Amino acid sequence: MVKTNINFIERRGTGSLKWDHADVLFNGEGLLPMWVADMDLGVPHQVQEALINRVNHPIFGYARPHDSLYDAVVNWMKDKHDWTIQKEQVFFSSGVVPSIAAAILAFTEPGDKVMIQSPVYAPFYSCINENSRTLVDNPLLIKNNRLEIDFEDFENKLKDGVKLFILCSPHNPGGMVWSKADITRMAELCKAYNVLIISDEIHADLGLYGHEHTPIAKMNPNSITLMAPSKTFNIAGLQASLVITESPEIMKKLTGQFLKQGFYGLNVLAYPAMEAAYTYGIDWLNETISIIESNAELVTSFINDKLPAVNVIKPEASFLVWIDLRGLGYTEGEITKRLIQKGKLALEPGSKFGKAGSGFVRMNIGCSPETVKEGLNRLYNSFSDLI
Ligand SMILES: Cc1ncc(COP(=O)(O)O)c(C=O)c1O
Repeated sequence: MVKTNINFIERRGTGSLKWDHADVLFNGEGLLPMWVADMDLGVPHQVQEALINRVNHPIFGYARPHDSLYDAVVNWMKDKHDWTIQKEQVFFSSGVVPSIAAAILAFTEPGDKVMIQSPVYAPFYSCINENSRTLVDNPLLIKNNRLEIDFEDFENKLKDGVKLFILCSPHNPGGMVWSKADITRMAELCKAYNVLIISDEIHADLGLYGHEHTPIAKMNPNSITLMAPSKTFNIAGLQASLVITESPEIMKKLTGQFLKQGFYGLNVLAYPAMEAAYTYGIDWLNETISIIESNAELVTSFINDKLPAVNVIKPEASFLVWIDLRGLGYTEGEITKRLIQKGKLALEPGSKFGKAGSGFVRMNIGCSPETVKEGLNRLYNSFSDLI
């Protein structure tokens, strides 16, 4: 692997949501922020250079993507995911969440059933509820220290009139990479019951320990895939993401919905950043993945050793660790109070991902090993009087 000298950089004072706003949002003081999902790593230098080059030109008028950006996206999908797509199948959106909301509006009516798999990324709930659709849950099961899909319930729910299924693949907060067999089974069941799939694959590029991601669109073209360079290359603040669908009818309807909402394209910095990331970012990404893997090892060995009542769901993708604190016997309110007041640690409370998440927390390990160690000590301190 080519070493790219990834840097961990002080972020306070940069307007960072994670670092500058944690104390206020979590109602604490001197908190170590290991919550919202961005990383503390400097981006690939080619991305920063592409941005500097563009900023050096003093006019920031409206922009359109160059053909070379489409080529970069098409090549990335082929090289990274063995997925052949065409330029016409790609649309640029400012974010995965806005795309989920647009797809819900385009393909369902108020009252229609939209299925998710809890616990899951909070905006899945709000996009459904705020648009007055009916939320249907196919809860994930915990088996062998992994989250797994309850296929019997999955099929029953589809049979019962679900119109749209929102998949989170890889899964946030659980960090699971769904196997090819699982993806195939979900794809086939959705085909059988004529259910459209929105697949949020924002964490797809960050497979750990050799886990390979399978885009569900490969198995079922009646789907909309949402990917982005944002988590992969730590550029979430640039607000650039991809909508990919093989179906021209779906593309037409969805882009029509974006027009209805008055959305025409990304900002002038998003395109060059995205192109540089997909063109030059692979070495940086491979190094980042090994940093995350060793951070995940730190978390599992520390918790197994020092907090035996706590259980870690080891991530198979991305930089978020789902930690089960239920064995400590506290309510979520008590857990949060201890973390904030005693430990001075800001973690995402599990219930943010649905009722099934109560008693869990999500720790962001997209940071230096020193920060992970400090976070683990603070986690321990939060509960040390019990041990
Ligand atoms: C599963 C998932 N989807 C979407 C997002 C956010 O996407 P965006 O910022 O592009 O709307 C996140 C961010 O954490 C996420 O984890």
